[in-house]
Amino acid sequence: MTQKASSPTPAIGIIGGSGLYEIESLESIVRHRIETPFGEPSDEIIEGRLSGRRVCFLPRHGRGHRLLAHEINHRANIWALRSLDVRWVVSVTAVGSLREELAPRDVVVPDQLMDRTGKGDQHTFFGNGIAAHVGFADPYSGEMRKQLLAAAAQHTGKLHDGGTYVSMNGPAFSTRAESNMHRALGFDLIGMTNAGEARLCREAEIAMATMCLVTDYDCWKTDEAAVDVSAVIANLHANSALAKEIISSIIPLIPEQADWQEHTALDTAILTQPENWPAE
Ligand code: ADE
Repeated sequence: MTQKASSPTPAIGIIGGSGLYEIESLESIVRHRIETPFGEPSDEIIEGRLSGRRVCFLPRHGRGHRLLAHEINHRANIWALRSLDVRWVVSVTAVGSLREELAPRDVVVPDQLMDRTGKGDQHTFFGNGIAAHVGFADPYSGEMRKQLLAAAAQHTGKLHDGGTYVSMNGPAFSTRAESNMHRALGFDLIGMTNAGEARLCREAEIAMATMCLVTDYDCWKTDEAAVDVSAVIANLHANSALAKEIISSIIPLIPEQADWQEHTALDTAILTQPENWPAE
């Protein structure tokens, strides 16, 4: 991709979800407003230093939550992060729980993903002359998940390793029939944004893992009120300080060299490419 920054050490990206619009501990801040071939990202990217590393923060919904999930331009977001030489991403996201044992305010690091948004054609950089099929059997980086779990374990005992995140198209929450179907199909968590981010990160050779903050039991659990925005926001506010602590702890655990398997995901993916494809 274009516009690589001159820093020899690649950067770490943080994509903040609902309730996480800034990271106060970032130092020496520079703001980047980036145009991409896919349009504008959700907001300026805030670059700063944390634990000696370059960190690039992007609020997925824009500051003040201006964008609904289906309005987010994931291609522009991931392109913009990669253009700043981001090679690792922690995606922080609010989710509904489809399992009794995953309670509101727990943290889950999923290991599988199901895309039910119907927007697969927008969750790729390929097409238009670039024919490529990236491997996506394990949608989250195994190494990145390991580091995220290690960082999270320093701050919470209510932590779950693994689970399947199903990505739905909002903005309405699920019906009870849909929620029960998702449970019957074996999914554990539901949200509206992770499928696009995970797929595009893999295509951009960014190692990515997701910190899911459980905010509700969706609507399958009949002894609880069905999800509504006020419950989501209340639980997110309660958990945003925890999310920031986990972010601070994961930064020193990430190596300086981008040499995990996700960092060469395109080596085996490309069938044809245009003549003007950027040289390495
Ligand atoms: N984000 C938080 N809770 C959710 C739910 N129940 N469904 C979809 N997205 C969510």
